[in-house]
Amino acid sequence: MEQGDIGIIGLGVMGSNLALNIADKGYNIAVHNRTASRIDEFVEGAGKLKNQIIPNAQLADFVLSIKAPRMILIMVKAGKPVDQTIAALMEHLDEDDIIIEAGNSNFTDSERRFETLKRAGFGFLGIGVSGGSEGARFGPSIMVGGAKKHWLQAKEILQAIGAKFKGESCADYMGTGGAGHFVKTIHNGIEYADMQMIGEIYGIMRDGLGMSPLACSEIFKSWNEGPLNSYLIEVTGHVLAKIDKKTGKPLIDLIVDQAGQKGTGRWSAIAATKLGVAATSIEGAVAARALSALKQERVAAEKIYNGRQTGGKNQGNVEIAIEILEQALIAGKIAAYAQGFAVLKAASEEHEWDLPLASIAKIWRAGCIIRSKFLDEMSLALEKGNVQNLLVAPEFVTMMSNNQNALRQVVSLGAINALPTMCLGAALSYFDTYKMANGTANLIQGQRDFFGAHGFYMSDREGMQNEDWPPTLAVET
Ligand code: 6PG
Repeated sequence: MEQGDIGIIGLGVMGSNLALNIADKGYNIAVHNRTASRIDEFVEGAGKLKNQIIPNAQLADFVLSIKAPRMILIMVKAGKPVDQTIAALMEHLDEDDIIIEAGNSNFTDSERRFETLKRAGFGFLGIGVSGGSEGARFGPSIMVGGAKKHWLQAKEILQAIGAKFKGESCADYMGTGGAGHFVKTIHNGIEYADMQMIGEIYGIMRDGLGMSPLACSEIFKSWNEGPLNSYLIEVTGHVLAKIDKKTGKPLIDLIVDQAGQKGTGRWSAIAATKLGVAATSIEGAVAARALSALKQERVAAEKIYNGRQTGGKNQGNVEIAIEILEQALIAGKIAAYAQGFAVLKAASEEHEWDLPLASIAKIWRAGCIIRSKFLDEMSLALEKGNVQNLLVAPEFVTMMSNNQNALRQVVSLGAINALPTMCLGAALSYFDTYKMANGTANLIQGQRDFFGAHGFYMSDREGMQNEDWPPTLAVET
C-alpha cells in the first residue's frame, strides 16, 4: 500500500466526511481513531474510496503510514481531547511535520498550540471548518491560521476539498497563530445573530400575525428567491414545513424552545468586548439563547405578568406587511455583519494578523452555514478596501437606506406587542448610534467627572478639563 498524502485522527461524523472528501479528490488518506472498531466501520462504509484509505489502529503505525513531511489533521472534540491527541502525536512526529487542528477550537488555544508546536520544531495549522457534516463531505468553507509556509504545504489539499464559488475555492489563509479559529468564531457569532433574527421574524409571524408553520415556511421559501437568498433561510423554510411522523403535527410546534450552544457565539461576544468593539446583535443572540434555556422561569414569569400567551388569546392581533418583515431582516443582517467585520478588523490590528477581510467574505460565499448571496455583495464592497464599517460602504448605504424604515416598523411593533426583538432591536440601535453625529456620551463624561474627576474634553477648548461640582445629598445611615 502506498503512503497517505495526509492523515486524519478522529472518525466522528465530521472527521469521516472530511476523510471521504479528501479521498474523493484523489488523495490517499491514512486514518486513525481512538476507538479502533470505528476505523473498521469507516473503511467498510467507504465504498469505492476504500482503496485510497490506509487504516491504522496504532498511532505509531498510523504516523509512519503518511508521507513525510507529514500533514495530520485532527478532528476530535474541542478542548482537552485536542491537547491529549497532540501530546500523544508529538511522541511520533519528525521535524517539520504539521498538525492541522480542525475542530471548533477557541483561538486562544490555537495560539498556545501554535507556539508549543513551533518550539518543538513542528508545524501547526488551526483551521476553522464550517458547513456541518454535509459541508465536510462535499466542500466546507475553511479558514486557515498558522505559519504561511505550512499553509503553502497544505494549500493544495485544503483548497481541493473546500467548497467552490464560481470555481474559486472557499479555503484560504487568514493569518498566523490562531487567526483561522478566530475568523471561524466570528463566523459563528454572525451565524448566531443571523439565526436569532430569523427566529424573531418567525415569532412575529407566529404570535403576531397568527400564521401557521406551513404559511411561515412558504414565506421563507419565497424569500430564498430574493435578496435574502441564503442557506439559513433555506433551512428555515424546510424546518417550518416538517411534519412530525408520530403525531402528524408540525414538528416545529413540538420542538422545545431551548437553544443549545457549544460556546463559539459566546466567544465572539467575549472577543468583541475584550477588543472594545460594539457587537450588540451578536451579544443579543447569545443572550437570547441564554434566556431560551430558562424555560421554567419563563413559563412562571408569563403567568406573573399575564403576558403574551403564545398560541393564546392575543395571537394574530398585529398587522404588518410580509415585505416589511423581509426588508427588516435585510437591514438587521447588514448591521449584524457590520459588527462581525468590525470585530475582525479590530482583532486584525490587535494581533497583527492582517486579516484579509474581502477574502473572508469570499470564502463565506459557499460551503459555510452563513453562505448567502449577500456575502458576494459584501466581498465586492470589501475588495475596494478602506471600508471603515460596512454600514458606510456605498453599496450598503443604499441597501440600508432602502430597508431601515422596515426595521423601525418591526422593532416598534415588537415593542408595543410584546414580541421580542432582542437581536433586530440591537441591530437598529447599533445603526442609529453609529450614524449619530452628536450622541449622548457627553452626559456620561459629565457624570464620570462628577463622581470620579475623570475629566472630559470640550468642543471649544484644548486639553482635558475638570469641573467643580456641587456636593450631593448625604446618604442617611
Ligand atoms: C459551522 C457551525 C458549526 C457549529 C454548529 C453548532 O460553521 O459548521 O457553526 O461549527 O458547531 O453550528 O453551534 P452551536 O451548538 O454553538 O449552536
